[in-house]
Amino acid sequence: MTKPRLRIGLIGTGFMGKAHVFGFASAPRVFELPYEIDLHTVVDITPDLAARAAQTLGFAHSTANWRDLLANPDIDVIDITAPNALHKEMALAAIAAGKHVYCEKPLAPLAADALEMANAAEARGIKTQVGFNYLCNPMLGLARDMIAAGELGEIRGYRGLHAEDYMANADGPYTFRHDPAGGGALADIGSHALATAEFLCGPITRVMGDCVTMIHDRPDGRGGRKAVTVDDVGRAFLRFANGATGSIEGNWIATGRKMQHDFEVYGTKGALAFSQEHFNVLNYFNTADAKGRQGFRRIEAGPDHAPYGLFCVAAGHQLGFNDLKAIEVAGYVNAIAGGPEPFNFRKGLRIQSLVESIHHSSAEQKWLEV
Ligand SMILES: NC(=O)c1ccc[n+]([C@@H]2O[C@H](COP(=O)([O-])OP(=O)(O)OC[C@H]3O[C@@H](n4cnc5c(N)ncnc54)[C@H](O)[C@@H]3O)[C@@H](O)[C@H]2O)c1
Repeated sequence: MTKPRLRIGLIGTGFMGKAHVFGFASAPRVFELPYEIDLHTVVDITPDLAARAAQTLGFAHSTANWRDLLANPDIDVIDITAPNALHKEMALAAIAAGKHVYCEKPLAPLAADALEMANAAEARGIKTQVGFNYLCNPMLGLARDMIAAGELGEIRGYRGLHAEDYMANADGPYTFRHDPAGGGALADIGSHALATAEFLCGPITRVMGDCVTMIHDRPDGRGGRKAVTVDDVGRAFLRFANGATGSIEGNWIATGRKMQHDFEVYGTKGALAFSQEHFNVLNYFNTADAKGRQGFRRIEAGPDHAPYGLFCVAAGHQLGFNDLKAIEVAGYVNAIAGGPEPFNFRKGLRIQSLVESIHHSSAEQKWLEV
Protein backbone atom coordinates (compact mmCIF):
# COMPACT_ATOMS: atom_id res chain seq x y z
CA MET A 1 0.00 0.00 0.00
CA THR A 2 1.40 3.41 -0.89
CA LYS A 3 1.85 5.73 2.01
CA PRO A 4 0.93 9.42 1.93
CA ARG A 5 3.86 11.72 1.25
CA LEU A 6 5.23 14.19 3.78
CA ARG A 7 6.85 16.96 1.78
CA ILE A 8 9.70 18.86 3.40
CA GLY A 9 10.87 22.43 2.81
CA LEU A 10 14.28 22.91 4.43
CA ILE A 11 15.70 26.36 5.26
CA GLY A 12 19.50 26.40 5.68
CA THR A 13 22.04 23.90 4.40
CA GLY A 14 24.91 24.25 6.88
CA PHE A 15 25.89 21.91 9.71
CA MET A 16 22.33 21.29 10.87
CA GLY A 17 20.66 21.44 7.45
CA LYS A 18 22.79 18.49 6.40
CA ALA A 19 22.19 16.65 9.68
CA HIS A 20 18.42 17.03 9.18
CA VAL A 21 18.71 15.58 5.68
CA PHE A 22 20.60 12.59 7.09
CA GLY A 23 17.73 12.22 9.55
CA PHE A 24 15.05 12.40 6.85
CA ALA A 25 16.98 9.95 4.67
CA SER A 26 17.65 7.36 7.41
CA ALA A 27 14.44 7.51 9.45
CA PRO A 28 12.15 5.81 6.87
CA ARG A 29 14.76 3.11 6.28
CA VAL A 30 15.15 2.36 10.00
CA PHE A 31 11.65 2.91 11.37
CA GLU A 32 8.23 1.99 9.99
CA LEU A 33 6.88 5.47 9.40
CA PRO A 34 3.34 6.45 8.40
CA TYR A 35 4.60 8.65 5.53
CA GLU A 36 7.01 8.56 2.63
CA ILE A 37 9.45 11.43 3.12
CA ASP A 38 9.76 13.72 0.12
CA LEU A 39 12.67 16.18 0.12
CA HIS A 40 10.76 18.85 -1.80
CA THR A 41 12.46 22.26 -1.67
CA VAL A 42 15.65 23.55 -0.10
CA VAL A 43 16.40 27.20 0.66
CA ASP A 44 19.66 29.05 1.15
CA ILE A 45 20.76 32.65 0.79
CA THR A 46 21.68 32.64 -2.91
CA PRO A 47 20.10 30.78 -5.85
CA ASP A 48 23.45 29.15 -6.58
CA LEU A 49 23.98 27.90 -3.01
CA ALA A 50 20.43 26.59 -2.88
CA ALA A 51 20.68 24.88 -6.30
CA ARG A 52 23.95 23.18 -5.40
CA ALA A 53 22.51 22.04 -2.07
CA ALA A 54 19.44 20.63 -3.84
CA GLN A 55 21.69 18.53 -6.03
CA THR A 56 23.94 17.30 -3.22
CA LEU A 57 21.25 16.72 -0.63
CA GLY A 58 18.61 15.33 -2.98
CA PHE A 59 15.87 17.97 -3.06
CA ALA A 60 13.68 18.34 -6.17
CA HIS A 61 13.56 22.16 -6.03
CA SER A 62 15.52 25.09 -4.63
CA THR A 63 15.02 28.78 -3.95
CA ALA A 64 16.83 31.69 -2.32
CA ASN A 65 13.62 33.04 -0.78
CA TRP A 66 12.26 31.08 2.19
CA ARG A 67 8.89 32.77 1.80
CA ASP A 68 8.38 30.74 -1.40
CA LEU A 69 7.75 27.75 0.88
CA LEU A 70 4.79 29.41 2.57
CA ALA A 71 2.46 29.69 -0.40
CA ASN A 72 3.42 26.33 -1.88
CA PRO A 73 0.57 23.84 -1.28
CA ASP A 74 2.97 20.98 -2.04
CA ILE A 75 4.94 21.55 1.18
CA ASP A 76 3.74 20.07 4.49
CA VAL A 77 6.66 20.73 6.85
CA ILE A 78 8.95 23.75 7.10
CA ASP A 79 12.26 22.80 8.66
CA ILE A 80 14.27 25.75 10.01
CA THR A 81 18.04 25.31 10.37
CA ALA A 82 18.85 28.99 9.75
CA PRO A 83 20.55 31.26 12.33
CA ASN A 84 18.81 31.75 15.67
CA ALA A 85 17.63 35.33 15.15
CA LEU A 86 15.52 34.17 12.15
CA HIS A 87 13.72 31.29 13.88
CA LYS A 88 10.80 33.32 15.22
CA GLU A 89 9.91 35.15 12.00
CA MET A 90 10.22 32.00 9.91
CA ALA A 91 8.29 29.78 12.34
CA LEU A 92 5.42 32.22 12.84
CA ALA A 93 5.06 32.67 9.08
CA ALA A 94 5.11 28.89 8.58
CA ILE A 95 2.47 28.39 11.29
CA ALA A 96 0.28 31.11 9.75
CA ALA A 97 0.56 29.27 6.44
CA GLY A 98 -0.65 26.06 8.13
CA LYS A 99 2.67 24.17 7.81
CA HIS A 100 4.09 21.87 10.47
CA VAL A 101 7.34 23.33 11.85
CA TYR A 102 10.61 21.65 12.81
CA CYS A 103 13.00 24.26 14.23
CA GLU A 104 16.53 24.08 15.55
CA LYS A 105 17.39 25.21 19.07
CA PRO A 106 17.52 27.71 20.64
CA LEU A 107 13.86 28.18 19.68
CA ALA A 108 13.94 32.00 19.85
CA PRO A 109 15.98 34.87 21.30
CA LEU A 110 13.63 35.45 24.25
CA ALA A 111 11.21 33.30 26.22
CA ALA A 112 8.45 35.76 25.27
CA ASP A 113 9.16 34.99 21.59
CA ALA A 114 9.15 31.24 22.25
CA LEU A 115 5.83 31.61 24.10
CA GLU A 116 4.31 33.40 21.10
CA MET A 117 5.55 30.59 18.84
CA ALA A 118 4.22 27.80 21.08
CA ASN A 119 0.85 29.52 21.46
CA ALA A 120 0.54 30.15 17.72
CA ALA A 121 1.32 26.52 16.88
CA GLU A 122 -1.10 25.12 19.45
CA ALA A 123 -3.89 27.51 18.38
CA ARG A 124 -3.62 26.22 14.79
CA GLY A 125 -3.06 22.55 15.63
CA ILE A 126 0.42 22.69 14.09
CA LYS A 127 2.84 19.88 15.06
CA THR A 128 6.22 21.18 16.15
CA GLN A 129 9.64 19.83 16.98
CA VAL A 130 12.76 21.51 18.39
CA GLY A 131 16.22 20.03 17.74
CA PHE A 132 17.26 18.64 21.12
CA ASN A 133 18.73 15.55 19.46
CA TYR A 134 21.00 14.48 22.35
CA LEU A 135 17.84 13.42 24.23
CA CYS A 136 17.26 10.83 21.48
CA ASN A 137 20.29 8.81 22.59
CA PRO A 138 19.14 5.36 23.78
CA MET A 139 21.67 5.61 26.65
CA LEU A 140 19.95 8.75 27.92
CA GLY A 141 16.68 6.83 27.74
CA LEU A 142 18.30 4.06 29.77
CA ALA A 143 19.59 6.58 32.33
CA ARG A 144 16.14 8.12 32.66
CA ASP A 145 14.49 4.70 33.06
CA MET A 146 17.02 3.68 35.75
CA ILE A 147 16.42 6.91 37.68
CA ALA A 148 12.62 6.63 37.34
CA ALA A 149 12.69 2.98 38.48
CA GLY A 150 14.56 3.96 41.65
CA GLU A 151 17.72 2.04 40.74
CA LEU A 152 19.84 4.96 41.97
CA GLY A 153 17.67 5.45 45.06
CA GLU A 154 16.90 8.99 46.09
CA ILE A 155 18.60 11.48 43.74
CA ARG A 156 20.82 13.87 45.65
CA GLY A 157 22.98 15.54 43.06
CA TYR A 158 23.35 16.32 39.36
CA ARG A 159 26.29 17.76 37.43
CA GLY A 160 25.84 18.55 33.74
CA LEU A 161 27.81 20.45 31.17
CA HIS A 162 28.13 21.07 27.49
CA ALA A 163 31.66 22.25 26.72
CA GLU A 164 33.38 22.66 23.36
CA ASP A 165 36.22 24.84 22.08
CA TYR A 166 34.89 26.16 18.76
CA MET A 167 35.02 29.77 20.09
CA ALA A 168 38.29 29.46 22.04
CA ASN A 169 40.30 31.35 19.41
CA ALA A 170 39.85 35.09 20.13
CA ASP A 171 40.60 35.77 16.44
CA GLY A 172 37.78 33.52 15.26
CA PRO A 173 35.10 35.56 13.45
CA TYR A 174 31.98 37.18 14.86
CA THR A 175 29.11 34.81 13.88
CA PHE A 176 25.35 34.56 14.31
CA ARG A 177 26.11 32.76 17.58
CA HIS A 178 27.43 36.12 18.93
CA ASP A 179 24.27 37.98 17.93
CA PRO A 180 22.64 39.30 21.12
CA ALA A 181 19.35 38.09 19.54
CA GLY A 182 19.56 34.46 20.58
CA GLY A 183 23.32 34.03 20.90
CA GLY A 184 25.74 33.11 23.69
CA ALA A 185 27.16 29.84 24.98
CA LEU A 186 24.36 29.24 27.47
CA ALA A 187 21.65 29.51 24.78
CA ASP A 188 23.73 27.71 22.15
CA ILE A 189 24.95 24.68 24.10
CA GLY A 190 24.03 25.25 27.75
CA SER A 191 20.46 24.77 26.47
CA HIS A 192 21.37 21.13 25.70
CA ALA A 193 22.77 20.71 29.22
CA LEU A 194 19.52 22.10 30.67
CA ALA A 195 17.35 19.87 28.49
CA THR A 196 19.32 16.79 29.60
CA ALA A 197 19.15 17.84 33.27
CA GLU A 198 15.35 18.07 33.22
CA PHE A 199 15.01 14.96 31.00
CA LEU A 200 16.80 12.94 33.68
CA CYS A 201 15.94 14.57 36.99
CA GLY A 202 12.67 16.43 36.37
CA PRO A 203 11.85 20.10 36.82
CA ILE A 204 14.43 22.67 37.93
CA THR A 205 12.85 25.07 40.41
CA ARG A 206 15.62 27.58 41.27
CA VAL A 207 18.76 28.85 39.55
CA MET A 208 21.79 30.93 40.48
CA GLY A 209 23.58 31.94 37.29
CA ASP A 210 27.04 33.21 36.42
CA CYS A 211 27.36 34.16 32.74
CA VAL A 212 30.62 35.71 31.60
CA THR A 213 31.98 37.23 28.37
CA MET A 214 35.68 36.36 28.16
CA ILE A 215 36.44 37.51 24.58
CA HIS A 216 35.08 41.04 24.22
CA ASP A 217 35.51 41.57 20.47
CA ARG A 218 36.05 39.49 17.34
CA PRO A 219 36.99 40.09 13.68
CA ASP A 220 33.99 41.53 11.84
CA GLY A 221 35.04 40.26 8.40
CA ARG A 222 35.69 43.81 7.13
CA GLY A 223 39.12 44.34 8.70
CA GLY A 224 37.82 45.62 12.03
CA ARG A 225 36.59 44.04 15.22
CA LYS A 226 33.05 43.89 16.56
CA ALA A 227 32.08 44.03 20.25
CA VAL A 228 30.79 40.78 21.75
CA THR A 229 28.31 41.05 24.62
CA VAL A 230 27.00 37.48 24.88
CA ASP A 231 28.39 34.94 27.34
CA ASP A 232 31.29 32.64 26.44
CA VAL A 233 30.68 30.67 29.63
CA GLY A 234 27.26 30.31 31.27
CA ARG A 235 27.06 28.37 34.53
CA ALA A 236 24.28 27.84 37.02
CA PHE A 237 23.73 26.21 40.36
CA LEU A 238 20.39 24.42 40.34
CA ARG A 239 17.74 23.08 42.68
CA PHE A 240 15.35 20.43 41.42
CA ALA A 241 11.75 19.81 42.47
CA ASN A 242 12.83 16.33 43.66
CA GLY A 243 15.09 17.97 46.24
CA ALA A 244 18.38 17.36 44.40
CA THR A 245 21.06 20.01 44.09
CA GLY A 246 22.94 20.44 40.85
CA SER A 247 24.83 22.53 38.36
CA ILE A 248 25.13 22.98 34.62
CA GLU A 249 27.66 24.73 32.41
CA GLY A 250 27.58 25.89 28.79
CA ASN A 251 31.11 26.70 27.64
CA TRP A 252 32.33 27.27 24.08
CA ILE A 253 35.89 28.28 25.00
CA ALA A 254 36.78 25.00 26.78
CA THR A 255 40.15 24.49 25.10
CA GLY A 256 40.60 20.89 23.94
CA ARG A 257 36.99 19.84 24.50
CA LYS A 258 35.12 18.84 21.34
CA MET A 259 31.81 17.43 22.56
CA GLN A 260 31.67 17.32 26.32
CA HIS A 261 27.93 16.99 26.70
CA ASP A 262 28.40 15.16 29.98
CA PHE A 263 26.48 14.43 33.15
CA GLU A 264 26.80 12.66 36.48
CA VAL A 265 23.84 11.75 38.68
CA TYR A 266 24.33 10.74 42.30
CA GLY A 267 21.74 8.78 44.25
CA THR A 268 21.58 6.97 47.58
CA LYS A 269 21.92 3.55 45.88
CA GLY A 270 24.08 4.34 42.90
CA ALA A 271 25.36 6.81 40.33
CA LEU A 272 25.57 7.33 36.57
CA ALA A 273 28.29 9.00 34.52
CA PHE A 274 28.09 9.81 30.81
CA SER A 275 30.09 11.66 28.16
CA GLN A 276 28.84 12.51 24.67
CA GLU A 277 32.41 12.02 23.41
CA HIS A 278 31.73 8.29 24.04
CA PHE A 279 27.98 8.41 23.76
CA ASN A 280 27.38 4.69 23.25
CA VAL A 281 28.44 4.05 26.83
CA LEU A 282 26.67 4.65 30.15
CA ASN A 283 28.76 4.17 33.31
CA TYR A 284 26.88 2.81 36.33
CA PHE A 285 27.99 2.56 39.95
CA ASN A 286 25.96 0.34 42.30
CA THR A 287 26.49 0.70 46.06
CA ALA A 288 25.22 -2.91 46.48
CA ASP A 289 28.32 -4.30 44.72
CA ALA A 290 30.67 -6.21 47.01
CA LYS A 291 33.29 -4.23 48.94
CA GLY A 292 36.57 -4.36 47.10
CA ARG A 293 34.71 -4.90 43.81
CA GLN A 294 33.00 -1.52 43.58
CA GLY A 295 33.51 0.83 40.66
CA PHE A 296 31.73 2.28 37.66
CA ARG A 297 30.74 -0.48 35.24
CA ARG A 298 30.56 0.28 31.54
CA ILE A 299 27.27 -0.47 29.79
CA GLU A 300 27.74 -0.59 25.99
CA ALA A 301 24.78 0.44 23.83
CA GLY A 302 23.12 -2.47 22.08
CA PRO A 303 19.80 -3.89 20.87
CA ASP A 304 18.53 -4.02 24.49
CA HIS A 305 18.46 -0.21 24.38
CA ALA A 306 15.67 0.72 21.94
CA PRO A 307 15.81 1.88 19.22
CA TYR A 308 19.48 0.89 18.81
CA GLY A 309 18.51 -2.56 17.49
CA LEU A 310 16.65 -1.04 14.54
CA PHE A 311 19.95 0.48 13.36
CA CYS A 312 22.23 -2.46 14.13
CA VAL A 313 21.67 -5.97 15.50
CA ALA A 314 25.06 -6.10 17.25
CA ALA A 315 25.90 -4.41 20.56
CA GLY A 316 28.95 -2.19 20.82
CA HIS A 317 29.00 -1.30 17.11
CA GLN A 318 27.80 2.21 17.99
CA LEU A 319 25.34 4.78 16.76
CA GLY A 320 26.57 8.12 15.37
CA PHE A 321 25.48 11.74 15.71
CA ASN A 322 23.30 11.67 12.58
CA ASP A 323 21.49 8.57 13.88
CA LEU A 324 20.23 10.68 16.78
CA LYS A 325 18.71 13.03 14.18
CA ALA A 326 17.05 10.03 12.50
CA ILE A 327 15.48 9.07 15.85
CA GLU A 328 14.34 12.68 16.32
CA VAL A 329 12.84 12.77 12.80
CA ALA A 330 11.00 9.47 13.38
CA GLY A 331 9.44 10.81 16.58
CA TYR A 332 8.35 13.99 14.83
CA VAL A 333 6.90 12.21 11.78
CA ASN A 334 4.87 9.95 14.08
CA ALA A 335 3.67 13.06 15.92
CA ILE A 336 2.46 14.57 12.65
CA ALA A 337 0.48 11.36 12.13
CA GLY A 338 -1.20 11.87 15.52
CA GLY A 339 1.31 10.51 18.05
CA PRO A 340 2.75 12.46 20.98
CA GLU A 341 5.16 15.31 20.18
CA PRO A 342 8.58 14.30 21.60
CA PHE A 343 9.96 17.84 22.06
CA ASN A 344 7.55 20.48 20.81
CA PHE A 345 7.69 24.30 20.95
CA ARG A 346 6.14 24.26 24.46
CA LYS A 347 9.15 22.22 25.65
CA GLY A 348 11.49 24.50 23.68
CA LEU A 349 9.90 27.44 25.51
CA ARG A 350 10.66 25.73 28.82
CA ILE A 351 14.38 25.53 27.96
CA GLN A 352 14.37 29.16 26.76
CA SER A 353 12.76 30.21 30.07
CA LEU A 354 15.52 28.41 32.00
CA VAL A 355 18.21 30.12 29.89
CA GLU A 356 16.57 33.48 30.49
CA SER A 357 16.21 32.90 34.24
CA ILE A 358 19.91 32.04 34.45
CA HIS A 359 20.83 35.21 32.52
CA HIS A 360 18.65 37.32 34.84
CA SER A 361 20.01 35.60 37.92
CA SER A 362 23.57 36.25 36.74
CA ALA A 363 22.83 39.93 36.07
CA GLU A 364 21.17 40.35 39.48
CA GLN A 365 23.66 38.06 41.26
CA LYS A 366 20.94 36.26 43.19
CA TRP A 367 18.97 33.00 43.22
CA LEU A 368 15.76 33.14 41.14
CA GLU A 369 12.70 30.90 41.12
CA VAL A 370 12.10 29.52 37.62
N1 LIG B 1 20.78 20.44 17.64
C1 LIG B 1 22.08 20.53 17.50
O1 LIG B 1 22.83 19.66 17.90
C2 LIG B 1 22.64 21.73 16.78
C3 LIG B 1 23.99 21.74 16.38
C4 LIG B 1 24.45 22.86 15.66
C5 LIG B 1 23.60 23.91 15.36
N2 LIG B 1 22.31 23.88 15.80
C6 LIG B 1 21.38 24.98 15.50
O2 LIG B 1 21.10 24.95 14.09
C7 LIG B 1 20.96 26.29 13.59
C8 LIG B 1 21.95 26.46 12.44
O3 LIG B 1 23.25 26.23 12.92
P1 LIG B 1 24.38 25.65 11.93
O4 LIG B 1 25.52 25.26 12.79
O5 LIG B 1 23.78 24.67 10.99
O6 LIG B 1 24.76 26.99 11.14
P2 LIG B 1 25.42 27.10 9.71
O7 LIG B 1 25.99 28.47 9.63
O8 LIG B 1 26.30 25.92 9.43
O9 LIG B 1 24.17 27.00 8.73
C9 LIG B 1 23.18 28.00 8.65
C10 LIG B 1 22.59 27.97 7.26
O10 LIG B 1 21.50 28.89 7.16
C11 LIG B 1 21.65 29.62 5.95
N3 LIG B 1 20.92 30.88 6.05
C12 LIG B 1 21.25 32.01 6.71
N4 LIG B 1 20.31 32.95 6.54
C13 LIG B 1 19.37 32.40 5.75
C14 LIG B 1 18.15 32.89 5.17
N5 LIG B 1 17.71 34.12 5.39
N6 LIG B 1 17.43 32.07 4.36
C15 LIG B 1 17.88 30.80 4.11
N7 LIG B 1 19.01 30.29 4.61
C16 LIG B 1 19.75 31.09 5.41
C17 LIG B 1 23.17 29.78 5.82
O11 LIG B 1 23.58 30.19 4.52
C18 LIG B 1 23.62 28.37 6.19
O12 LIG B 1 23.51 27.47 5.10
C19 LIG B 1 21.22 27.22 14.78
O13 LIG B 1 19.99 27.64 15.30
C20 LIG B 1 21.98 26.36 15.78
O14 LIG B 1 21.76 26.74 17.11
C21 LIG B 1 21.83 22.80 16.48
